[in-house]
Amino acid sequence: MGYKCKLCPSKAVIYMRQHRLALCSGCYVQWFAKQTQRSISEMRMLRRDERVLVAVSGGKDSLSLWYVLSELGYDAEGLYIDLGISDLGYSERSKTYAMHLADKLMRPLHIVSVSKSVGKAIPELVRRSDRSPCSLCGLIKRYIMNRFAIEGGFDVLATGHNLDDEAATLLSNVLHWQVGYLARQSPILMERDGFVRRIKPFYRFTEKETALYALLNGIAYIEDECPYSVDATTIFLKGILNQLEERMPGTKLQFYNNFLAHARELFEREQAPKVQLRQCSICSMPTAECVCAFCRAIERVGGTFVGLNVVRYEPKQCGASSQSTKAAMTAEGDDNGEQCRLA
Ligand code: AMP
Ligand code: FES
Ligand code: ZN
Repeated sequence: MGYKCKLCPSKAVIYMRQHRLALCSGCYVQWFAKQTQRSISEMRMLRRDERVLVAVSGGKDSLSLWYVLSELGYDAEGLYIDLGISDLGYSERSKTYAMHLADKLMRPLHIVSVSKSVGKAIPELVRRSDRSPCSLCGLIKRYIMNRFAIEGGFDVLATGHNLDDEAATLLSNVLHWQVGYLARQSPILMERDGFVRRIKPFYRFTEKETALYALLNGIAYIEDECPYSVDATTIFLKGILNQLEERMPGTKLQFYNNFLAHARELFEREQAPKVQLRQCSICSMPTAECVCAFCRAIERVGGTFVGLNVVRYEPKQCGASSQSTKAAMTAEGDDNGEQCRLA
């Protein structure tokens, strides 16, 4: 690479063109934690006395988020949603990575099984649905995240969405002029009746930056994309944004930051006449309709929501190997483990 660290005499491991900043491994890890704290403080996302639930998928972003929040001293527990995707062992392998980090951080990980909560795993739900896999899966994940956070008494739900995710979503929302989505696209959505506060502290980091943070901290993560996302439009839009970034460094960050600074509020104001929320007649969660989108979708694909099926994974004392972690989880998971139904 040939760059020197801007903060010390060491050799740089990364050059961030959009910030014109080269850093060595030690300085990068510190810079990354400081930037995370800066985003949290500037947006007033999270206080020290609040309990935060980090939704971890087993990927680099969410695992790095759980790690850095713990490093920064926040009271952070993990939530892994087991989607039951067996292609290439996707869900099982993702879960193992989440458990490894729980062991490393010595923090509990809550595991919600989709198939045990609604009677069918994602692949079967997707087969029976006319929606795209990502849209159905996204709806189910968001519902579970919010419901678990509320029932578990957490103040805040944090997800690992990064700048590449947010810029691609923004581009998609603008291309289709999804005014309602534009009004709600924000790194922080405040809590209101039945909805926990939702935050995205990594909204300024690119995928490459979160991957490097994971690597430098020895956080193992699943590198494969979800088998259903191969053709996803988001991946295509991310490619286009990367081409723009190549030609005009800083475009992604400006596109999203300027939207937040100048445009989002306008959309929010336009959407001002708020819909009145009421309780879903099936599951009691907040909704604008009689029956919430989650219950309607589950009903349509022949599932039945029986309440969240949760297993609490307690971290092993230091030095747990992947073998012992796996064995412990298998024993805990199905019959013998501490299981609780939260609904
Ligand atoms: P995605 O929608 O897959 O791009 O993921 C965005 C964020 O949602 C991730 O950074 C995680 O915080 C969260 N997430 C995605 N999948 C899961 C999962 N299976 N369990 C828990 N959280 C997840
Ligand atoms: Fe849900 Fe891929 S993670 S469809
Ligand atoms: Zn409902």
